[in-house]
Amino acid sequence: MENTLLMGAEAVRETVDRVAAKQDITRDELAFLLSAGADTAGYLRQQARQRAESIYGKKIYIRGLIEFTNYCKNDCYYCGIRRSNKQADRYRLSKEDILECCKTGYELGFRTFVLQGGEDGYYTDEIVCDLVSSIKSAHPDCAVTLSIGEKAKESYRRYYEAGADRYLLRHETADEAHYRYLHPPQLSLSNRMRCLYDLREIGYQVGCGFMVGSPGQTVDTLYEDLRFIKELEPHMVGIGPFIPQHDTPFADRNAGTADATFRLLAIIRLIHPLVLLPSTTALGTIHPRGREEGILSGANVVMPNLSPVGVRKKYALYDNKICTGDEAAECRFCLQNRMKSIGYEVVTDRGDSRVLTRAVKT
Ligand code: 5AD
Ligand code: FES
Repeated sequence: MENTLLMGAEAVRETVDRVAAKQDITRDELAFLLSAGADTAGYLRQQARQRAESIYGKKIYIRGLIEFTNYCKNDCYYCGIRRSNKQADRYRLSKEDILECCKTGYELGFRTFVLQGGEDGYYTDEIVCDLVSSIKSAHPDCAVTLSIGEKAKESYRRYYEAGADRYLLRHETADEAHYRYLHPPQLSLSNRMRCLYDLREIGYQVGCGFMVGSPGQTVDTLYEDLRFIKELEPHMVGIGPFIPQHDTPFADRNAGTADATFRLLAIIRLIHPLVLLPSTTALGTIHPRGREEGILSGANVVMPNLSPVGVRKKYALYDNKICTGDEAAECRFCLQNRMKSIGYEVVTDRGDSRVLTRAVKT
């Protein structure tokens, strides 16, 4: 018995060391690291954490998240703000509201603002450009990140020229059949990928990502996600557990686990070491110390909410989301304390990615 355990631990160490050395993973190595016992996760996460520390030190970057609209023309089966959800209480923030959020955020030390919203036709390209350039002229030392979904390349170009620096667009899954399982027929994986490659080509720092434990996810679909990350070489990767939302078709599905999320954060750190990797709100929602444990698994970014408290509950992508009653300052200092409790320091520089874009490389 003891022998088998020892062999198991030895196999785990060997696998983790091999994955770390080649900065890549096979399907079998992935299956092994996701399924091996709790001792496994310990070594895996520790190695990932050391890797992150060797690159970024004990520094954690913060991004201020502004959820500026929960209108969405899409109907993703997992998402609480999907078009068909008649229970969603819809809102839009005005330009003044958004600038006010940025001002508050700036005073709290934020130097990156993430404008996130559903795909809301109200915000035309012209309006988005005006928002971006207004934020940039009010706060020239800040980075603006957009997370507003799939657009035409020309639109992405216009936002970029208006001053947007980064773009987050989770790919959700890199497997065709799984993508169709999670989305209505109007959405396609090929367009999603087209968007990500367009964004990268234009010059954005780009983030992709996926939910852990989404309905229909398997080791094989996860393996494709990791292959896609290796190919795209994104500057950021956002992952968090899937959490069911009670008014969606996936209301009765199981949530993803914190343990699987920790392991995947660690694996992503090992195979794509320079990446900016957030420890997400969803992770903090399913585990009381989720965000701390995410950092201890190799993550190096946190994204506290800057949205006005009055609208926070309405941006209900999933159930039981944390921080919906807290002011920006509360989240800011809460996270600072949480990071401090595990020996990490929140820093206020822009925290640009160290991943070089292809355009720069070639
Ligand atoms: N659980 C967890 N994450 C979700 N997202 C959307 N719905 C859910 C859910 N039910 C994630 C998606 C999206 C991001 C903004 O939020 O991955 O890209
Ligand atoms: Fe929002 Fe802790 S981060 S209350």
